[in-house]
Parts: sequence; C-alpha cells; structure tokens
Amino acid sequence: MRLIVRGGEVVSATEVLRADVLVEDERIVAVAAPDSELTRTFAASADRVVEARNRYVIPGGVDVHTHMEMPFGGTFSADTFETGTRAAIHGGTTTIVDFAIQPRGGSLHQGLEAWMAKAEGHCAGDYGFHCIVSDVTDASLAEMDRLVEEGVTSFKLFMAYPGVFYSTDGEILRAMQRAATTGALIQMHAENGIAIDQLVGQALARGELAPRFHGSTRPAILEGEATQRAIQLARVAGAPLYIVHLSAAEALAAVADARDRGQPVFAETCPQYLFLSEEDLAREGFEGAKFVCSPPLRSDQHRSALWRGLLTDDLQVVATDHCPFCFKDQKERGRDDFSRIPNGLPGVEHRVDLLHQAVVEGRIPLTRWVEVAATAPARMFGLFPRKGTLSPGSDADLVVYDPHRVQTLSASTHHMAVDYSCYEGMSVTGGVEWALVRGKVVLEEGRYVGRPGDGRFVPRGLSRAVA
Ligand code: URP
Ligand code: ZN
Ligand code: ZN
Repeated sequence: MRLIVRGGEVVSATEVLRADVLVEDERIVAVAAPDSELTRTFAASADRVVEARNRYVIPGGVDVHTHMEMPFGGTFSADTFETGTRAAIHGGTTTIVDFAIQPRGGSLHQGLEAWMAKAEGHCAGDYGFHCIVSDVTDASLAEMDRLVEEGVTSFKLFMAYPGVFYSTDGEILRAMQRAATTGALIQMHAENGIAIDQLVGQALARGELAPRFHGSTRPAILEGEATQRAIQLARVAGAPLYIVHLSAAEALAAVADARDRGQPVFAETCPQYLFLSEEDLAREGFEGAKFVCSPPLRSDQHRSALWRGLLTDDLQVVATDHCPFCFKDQKERGRDDFSRIPNGLPGVEHRVDLLHQAVVEGRIPLTRWVEVAATAPARMFGLFPRKGTLSPGSDADLVVYDPHRVQTLSASTHHMAVDYSCYEGMSVTGGVEWALVRGKVVLEEGRYVGRPGDGRFVPRGLSRAVA
C-alpha cells in the first residue's frame, strides 16, 4: 500500500516546509520536496493521493494522559476505549497513553491485564499504558522492573486521595528509588491530600456544599507544597520526576527552580488549566459541577504563569487528563455535596484544536504546537521516533489540518460519550481533515472511516527526555 500526502505545509517541532509525505504500508518512507523526482517515481505506483495544498501536515497527536472506563467516585468515566479513541481521532490524536490501575491488595500486572482487556480490539488509534501504583509493596516494586521490560515504563503515584490511591512519602521514596535503578519515569499527582481532606471536612461542616468549594478546599499552595516535596524526594532518590496535570503557579515555580538546578524534573499541563478558570467552577447553580477536576481550575494569574511556562519549556507537555463523567446521573451524584462529584473533565477530542487556537491567538509558535501536542510527549514517554514525528521509518500517524476552518465546540457535535462540553459555544479556528494511523486512513475529510481494533498496543521504551 503506497500513499502520498501531497503539497502540504509539513510542520514539525522545529520547522515548517512545503513537502510531500510518502507512506508505504505502516511507515513513512520519505518527506520529499514537492513534485521532486522521488515523489514522481513513488506516485507512479501509489494507491492513493491525499491532496494537502493549503493544509498543515503534522504528526498525529500523542495524548499521554487519558482515563477511559476508569472506576472513580463510585462510577466509571463515560468513554470506553472505543468511543474515547474515536473521539481522539476526530481531534487529531492518534495515540493515547492511558492508566492501568493496580487494585489495592492486588498486583500491578492484574491492573495491566484488566486494562489491556478493556482496550484490545476496541481502539481507533494506538495506545500504551502507564501503571497507577496504589499499593507500594516489595512485590509491586519488583513488578515495576518487569513492567519496564514489557513496555510499561512510567508509574503514577498520588499524594492526593487518602484511602484511595494515596501513598505516603516513604512509599513514594521507595518507588522513586526503584525507578532510579531502571530508568522508569515516576509521574506524580502532587496535591497534599491529607491537608485537603481536612479542609473538605471543615467546608462541609460549615454547609459549603456547592461545586465552587471543590476549588477553595484544594488551594494552589497545597499543590505547590506537594510539588516541592515530590521534587525533594526525587532528588534524594536520584530519580527523574514528571508532574502530571500541573495547574498552579507555585507548582510551576518549584519545577522551574529544580530544572534551573539541573534536576531532571518535567511537567505537563492540560487545556482546561489554560482555557478555563475558577469562574467556570463557580457558575450558577450546579453548573460548576461540569468543571470539577483535581487539581481544580484556577485564577487568571495561574493561567498566565502556565502560558509562560509553555514558552520557557518549564512545561514540556500538554495532555488532557481526559476523564469524562456525564452531567446527568454522574456529576449529579454530588448535587448536595461537592465532595461526591466525580473528579474529571472530557477533553481528548479538543486538545489539538485548542492548542492550534493558541497559535492563532499568538500565544505559542506553530512549531511549539506540534512539539507540545506530539513530539515532546512521544519523547517523554518512550514513543519517539516511532510516534511524534514525520521522519523516514516513523509510523505513518499523520494529520492533515485545515488552519482556516472555523468550528464551534459543542456537546451536540463532539464525539465523546458525554452529555456536555466544557467549551460549549467556543469558536476555534482550525480543524482536522484527514487522519492516518500507521498508514491507514481513519478520518477522510472529517468523516470517520476506521474500525474498532485499528489501534494496537504500543510497548514503550524509556523516556528520551531523561537521557
Ligand atoms: O480530576 C481528575 N484529574 N480526575 C482524573 C484522575 C486524576 O487524578 O488524574
Ligand atoms: Zn491525577
Ligand atoms: Zn488523570
């Protein structure tokens, strides 16, 4: 099978050039000058030509933080691997890395097998897994070593959610020490959950029950404190550290300080922390429940700091933390008590478009769009150069992007299995036209033409960011 994507502006993390992309079977064979001899020879035996004039051609997006079918707060996140990865394709994300959860008292492999079974044969794009370590024991530490060999090279620990996923500082230190011996990457949910639980209890006792109190009981200072503590633990252990879903200026300052000292500390933020704010959480009535996630949405001062962090590379990755719960029946569980609202927002479909909107608004350069949405996450999580770049030998995961299309984001048109949109009515410029997963066209002029099972499990190597 030979396919050419012809005449587009090929955007990478470093440059923009007009070129033809030549694809054979599952791989890219060349990025050639337009109408070059190489293209003409290849075209003579091509099965398909995709015209990309006046379009960007970019590597498929890599979203390294999703939760499909995740049990949380007494329910399950609403997207299955089938619906969630199909929505991702509509939005230009061709690879996700989801989180397999170690059951308390069980093994990491038990968690991984359960998540593999949910995903296998259902995904529209490729997928990998991180493991959530909810029980740090001698046995689970030993399993971490084996998992690295099996292509699961990153492990999330929680300083939040006591009694659910929470680990003590001692447990975290032990996991970091183990990761230091194999080169695995520890991902940290950095919020001081012990203090937060006290604040939540006090708020409820005062009768503060509305969604906005989810925000006031999870102050930025406690995200900053936990981030700083995680950084010091990683320093003692000699392990690299990746902070997930960073939302607060205090946390970003801690990451920047560590990086300035030369410590291998990395961080992601998410579109919701860049585009939404605590004002959304404080919307009238119970509307704010649509915006309950942890860490919570913050003020403009924090948002400005995050935009700056993306430019200075103190934030390297933008991932979604896609964890959708329907407003009806799921978010509504917390109508009389904000602490019962399942935490998480839908977003896997809109990350690439929202970041392109940031380009349109002059917040980030065009090459940085591709870097934070595809190249850097692929490097960070051992998928590069297979994913995240359009280079000879890379998987032909590719998006043809129309930079001029205007779309209005809405639950009535999105493809995620959730009954509301955090961005309802927002107009963005740009949209995905074509998407290829390992050379197979799965989105054709905006129409999904793939099948569940097109996506395969991708074993990952060690982080390239750390090396
Ligand atoms: O609110 C969130 N972030 N839900 C998903 C679970 C997590 O902590 O990432
Ligand atoms: Zn988290
Ligand atoms: Zn998450």
